[in-house]
Amino acid sequence: MCGIVGCIGKINTKKYLIEGLKTLDYRGYDSAGIAYLNNNQVEICKTVGSVSLLEEKSPKEITSFIGIGHTRWATHGVPCDINSHPVQSMNKTITLVHNGVIENFMEIKKELMEKGYKFTSATDSEVIASLIEDTLKSGKSMLKTLQSVMKKLEGSFACSIIWEEDKKHLYLIKRSSPIMVGVGDGFNLVASDAVPIIEYTKKIIDLDDDQIAIISDKEVNLYDIHVRPVIIKYSDKEPSLLSRDLNGYPHFMLKEIEEIENVVRRLCLNFFNGEEFTFDPHLMKDLHAADNIIFIGCGTSYHASLVGARFFRKQEIDADVFIASEWAYYPQISGKNPFVILLSQSGETADLIHCMRIIKEKGIKTLVVTNTKGSTLERNADYSILLNAGLEVSVASTKAYSAQVAALALLTSALKDRKKVVVDLNEACKIISQIRVREKSRLQALANKLKDSEHLFFLGRGYDHDFCLEASLKLKEISYIHSEAIPGGELKHGPIALIAQDTPVIVFISDPNTASSMRNNIQEVKARGADVYVVATHSLSKEDDFIIIPDYPIYLSSIAIAPIAFYFAYYASLAKGYNVDKPRNLAKSVTVE
Ligand code: AGP
Ligand code: GLU
Repeated sequence: MCGIVGCIGKINTKKYLIEGLKTLDYRGYDSAGIAYLNNNQVEICKTVGSVSLLEEKSPKEITSFIGIGHTRWATHGVPCDINSHPVQSMNKTITLVHNGVIENFMEIKKELMEKGYKFTSATDSEVIASLIEDTLKSGKSMLKTLQSVMKKLEGSFACSIIWEEDKKHLYLIKRSSPIMVGVGDGFNLVASDAVPIIEYTKKIIDLDDDQIAIISDKEVNLYDIHVRPVIIKYSDKEPSLLSRDLNGYPHFMLKEIEEIENVVRRLCLNFFNGEEFTFDPHLMKDLHAADNIIFIGCGTSYHASLVGARFFRKQEIDADVFIASEWAYYPQISGKNPFVILLSQSGETADLIHCMRIIKEKGIKTLVVTNTKGSTLERNADYSILLNAGLEVSVASTKAYSAQVAALALLTSALKDRKKVVVDLNEACKIISQIRVREKSRLQALANKLKDSEHLFFLGRGYDHDFCLEASLKLKEISYIHSEAIPGGELKHGPIALIAQDTPVIVFISDPNTASSMRNNIQEVKARGADVYVVATHSLSKEDDFIIIPDYPIYLSSIAIAPIAFYFAYYASLAKGYNVDKPRNLAKSVTVE
């Protein structure tokens, strides 16, 4: 998953590498490292832990013509100093940082070991370094060497490489993991995403798969896998949406929850001009022609897909929903004219990229709903809907989830020219604002009270259940409390066995069709001693419910009441003293399968 940076030329190397890595540590944060020149020799400084530790450990000032850096999310080998990047080839002629997974690294490692190569780390990345070193021995140029290495490597990689014999150039190779170059005046920059670059230059080049870049302080040359020069095109990423400012908030998660309202309002403005919907007419035509919509996503985006599929079914269009890592191995396509919608906040999720390859081979049209313009998925889809939610930094997704659901509500309503959706979304926004003003402190108190619970259950039906899945994931991710989302009716088919004295159960009731059944479910868990907290809409509420919110169109449950669960998870994590924005074992952009 990891984040990569690199720089060459007239620039404060330490500042760019360290500050750059800090902005990328959402991609992985188990260890970090940099390589730079000291007296023209490549020097490496790396450490387990955060970029701040690396900052302390590395020299105060680094004046180096060239530098690379890495923040790791280990896939091969435990997080430890040796397995951290940069890694080097056996004879230290190649120093590189790698993002991705080399699937055939064992075979290559074996071949190299037979030739006498020795390895110090358990990483797949070290194999790339020694493979480059070994290939160079045949007398090939670096460009031809990288071509031949790329042909040999299976899997995903974005590598930034320093070659002992040519310290005037940085070399990049890329397949399936993102990497980009920022073109400056007298310097050039490398990074896994645009955030570290935009402070220095707006001229950004996104490398495509199977490209090689050779970068000096003044020039960037791009080549395809056949080593043919590629004409450089600059990306049109929107810098204003890449702000990483906390704006006075203590954590990004809190800031991002409180941005939901604006994000939803902005989506309405983006896709409805006051008179009509403004989605791409070609997209609308393809959706009208489709007889089955296949949604694919992971984690939170999968949960938003569940809601999206309901929206389509409501419009009498068949829709299936799949988890990307499942669909990739068991692809299921129904209908004579299917259409695929991929949901991904980052646009870089490896499981989805895998699915995208299969879908393309089958010639099925795709729409990507993403927050990341210029991301791999966005570039490869036939259509894209940009969420424009601004950078989501916290690993736990909040505003992107609400934005995905809002965008899909607008899209499906546009299919039937149902303009009322805009009024409905505005109503949902009012509820969000009311929760912020009136309920936040009660949710904090509840989180403090329940923080030591071993288990916690979320109950709901229909749209409420879809949302419970997300509520439960959020709580698990950042508070490490085990929780499950259970459709009310399923309780007695098994999960009720887990309810014991004082087991906390949070119940959402917003659908008149299922409200009385949900009340029965509450009696069932209460009879087993559960500690129940009900969130209900006004017309379905009872006096002793924990939170009562005004009625709203139930299909927007996942937007209107989302902040309740988001605040609760946030405060639970805070109460337990955890790192809210960077939960253990997780990374923001999951670029490995
Ligand atoms: C969200 O809180 C999670 N960290 C995770 O489930 C995430 O939604 C998932 O990895 C999918 O990411 P994507 O939307 O960037 O594809
Ligand atoms: N596979 C490499 C490792 O485990 C890189 C992982 C990453 O992309 O963070 O070191």
